[in-house]
Amino acid sequence: MNQKRVLSGVQPTGALHIGNWLGAIRNWVDLQNDYETLVCVVDLHAITVPHDPTSLAKDTLSTAALYVACGMNPNTCSIFIQSHIKAHTELCWLLNCVTPLNWMERMIQFKEKALKQGDNVSIGLLDYPVLMAADILLYDSDFVPVGEDQKQHLELARDIAQQRINSRFGKGENEILKVPKPLIMSEGSKIMSLCDGKNKMSKSDPNENSRISLLDPPEIIKKKIKRAKTDAHMGLEFGNIERPEADNLLGIYSLVTGLGRDKASDECSAMGWGMFKPILTDAVINALEPIQKKYSDLIKDRCELNRILTEGEKRAQEISESTLKRVKDALGFLN
Ligand code: TRP
Repeated sequence: MNQKRVLSGVQPTGALHIGNWLGAIRNWVDLQNDYETLVCVVDLHAITVPHDPTSLAKDTLSTAALYVACGMNPNTCSIFIQSHIKAHTELCWLLNCVTPLNWMERMIQFKEKALKQGDNVSIGLLDYPVLMAADILLYDSDFVPVGEDQKQHLELARDIAQQRINSRFGKGENEILKVPKPLIMSEGSKIMSLCDGKNKMSKSDPNENSRISLLDPPEIIKKKIKRAKTDAHMGLEFGNIERPEADNLLGIYSLVTGLGRDKASDECSAMGWGMFKPILTDAVINALEPIQKKYSDLIKDRCELNRILTEGEKRAQEISESTLKRVKDALGFLN
């Protein structure tokens, strides 16, 4: 078995929304047919900003269940919880000690998040990208599917592997860490807020109406789309920079219906918002129905969920232990 390997993950902070699905998880579902796919729930990343200890475990489990509900096949891919594999934090420490501080201080996401945290910025928030590098490098990942906003983090993982581990501690041809490549998700890699087409749909937006959660019931979806921001123009279209909301909602429509961009834009080019919104609403409700059904069955079946996570953990353990050993040996630790 010489299949190329893919790794990815999402944080268990609050309910996953259609942006997580259309921008990330939907792509993993396709990738699992061609690659060995490992997906984790990155719960250690979730505590890099202040978090609620009473909901972390529940959110972690429900995120894992949503992976399956969205179509990740536990028989072919490995689903696991990041904090259950101790090698993540251990490799993170080793990488911390070779990564220059100024590489971290210039990370865009850190700067943005730190701004929001005021004087409450943890070292964990600064270290977030190194932990993410550890996630990726532990599994000798060939490819990491990432959206635009995570590109810089992947670049960092590549730099750490190449410049700070392989070239400093490697001997000859044999690389210690595999240098991963990004798989940039094109269409729909960025779903925007329903309240502002210039901002990304986000779990941390205080306004619930800015996103559609994967578990929102039909009447809530209807309400949110009804309230979604529009503009004064007639007809839906892609690519008009003056109309980010039209671009975003038409994009969502093309993805949830599976029509693709050309057909969706032909179908809606003459529609006013009043006609388009109910059609979009039905399309979103229909697309989420099977996911919600599968989720509600699985979340009740703790036995099956545990079985899936134990299987995934076994495979993750196997790969990560051997990578960690390679790095520790290269760094000169006593066996
Ligand atoms: N930082 C990623 C995000 O917010 C989540 C993440 C953590 C991740 N570790 C990862 C993604 C490893 C891909 C691979 O989307």
